[in-house]
Formats: sequence, C-alpha cells, structure tokens
Amino acid sequence: MRAIVLRGSPRRGGNSDTLADHFIQGLKSTGDIEVFDFILNDMKIKPCQGCQYCMTSKNNKCITDDDMHKIYSVFADADFVVWATPMYWGYMTAQMKTALDRMEALAMDVKKYWLDKEFVAILTYRHHYQSTVGFFERVQGYFRFRLNVITFCSMNKEGHEDIHVSSCKEKLEESYQLGRKLGLLRRA
Ligand SMILES: Cc1cc2nc3c(=O)[nH]c(=O)nc-3n(C[C@H](O)[C@H](O)[C@H](O)COP(=O)(O)O)c2cc1C
Repeated sequence: MRAIVLRGSPRRGGNSDTLADHFIQGLKSTGDIEVFDFILNDMKIKPCQGCQYCMTSKNNKCITDDDMHKIYSVFADADFVVWATPMYWGYMTAQMKTALDRMEALAMDVKKYWLDKEFVAILTYRHHYQSTVGFFERVQGYFRFRLNVITFCSMNKEGHEDIHVSSCKEKLEESYQLGRKLGLLRRA
C-alpha cells in the first residue's frame, strides 16, 4: 500500500504536520506501507499557467518541468492521499493551493487518479474551517474519492492564545485511529 502526504504548512512540527504524523503512524500500525512525504514549502512548484496543455495533449501531461512531477509520478498508485494544511485567509496555504491547481493535469482521468482512493483532509485553524471542508466536499462529488476530515482549533477559546495539538491527546488519538481504521479497511 502507498500513502502520499502533502504538507501545506510552512511550519515543520506544527499542528497539521503533527496530526499527519499521527495519521501515518496509525496506518503503519496495520502493516507495511510506502509513504511519500511532500513538504510543499521546500519544493519548487510553479503556479499553474493555465496553458491547457494538460487538457489538450494526448497524454494529459503537465508541460511545466518542476518538482510537481515528483507528486504526479506516485499519485496514480496511492491508496491514501493526505492533505494537511492550516487555514490561511479562509482557505488553505498558498503552498497547498499551488499544488492543488497543478492537479489539473490529473483531473482528466478520474478512474486512474481519484476514484476509490481514501483522501484525508487535515485542517487546522483558529476561527473556521468550513469553507475548506466545503471545497473538499464539492470536488469529492466529481472525483468520487472517499473523504475523511480531521479538524483542530489551535486557539484557546478563553485566552485567545495559540495551543499546540500535542497538548490535545484526544486529537492525536483521533488522527492515529483514523489511520488505523483506514489501513485495516483497505487491507481487508
Ligand atoms: C497568514 C495566516 C493566515 C491565517 N488565516 C486563518 C484563517 O483565515 N482562519 C483561521 O481559522 N485561522 C487562520 N490562521 C491560523 C492558522 O490556521 C492556525 O494557527 C493553524 O493551527 C496553523 O497550523 P500549523 O501549525 O499546521 O501551521 C492563519 C494563520 C496565518 C499565519
């Protein structure tokens, strides 16, 4: 089995990173798994140029030659795709959105790239996450992947201070258990 983790936060060891790690640990507890970890902030991924080459060329390849091809090359055979991102300005980080736009090259073949995969959206936030969950739910209808969502509010409601998810054992456990559950289901 294969998992891809797309890490959208620029903060290593932050909330979304930590939850993604626990999800992967849960998956690993069910048996062998090949994990492809992509720290988007460290990759050279150019924004989509809207050239429509991927839509019009025979092989639906993206013509922009950069690190996005590392993701393309492992996507088709993934059983699990984790999108871990904080909410930034009501959506996701620019790093995640840039990679997402470049997924256009994978949008032409639903069966090969999307259908029946387990997708896990890990969304960390201070005030709201609904707009991004709404986005994932909308695309799910078209791509027909299975969507699982984990959210974590990193703001202490009383003091308005930030808290780190590592202080919230139930959230870490929720993420771990989701990994375990999906791993066991996929292997059954
Ligand atoms: C530039 C910036 C914009 C943000 N915008 C939002 C937002 O629109 N809504 C929200 O709920 N939280 C927002 N936040 C808070 C982050 O989503 C939150 O701190 C999150 O837990 C960080 O996740 P991380 O530790 O994985 O980086 C923003 C934070 C930054 C730095």
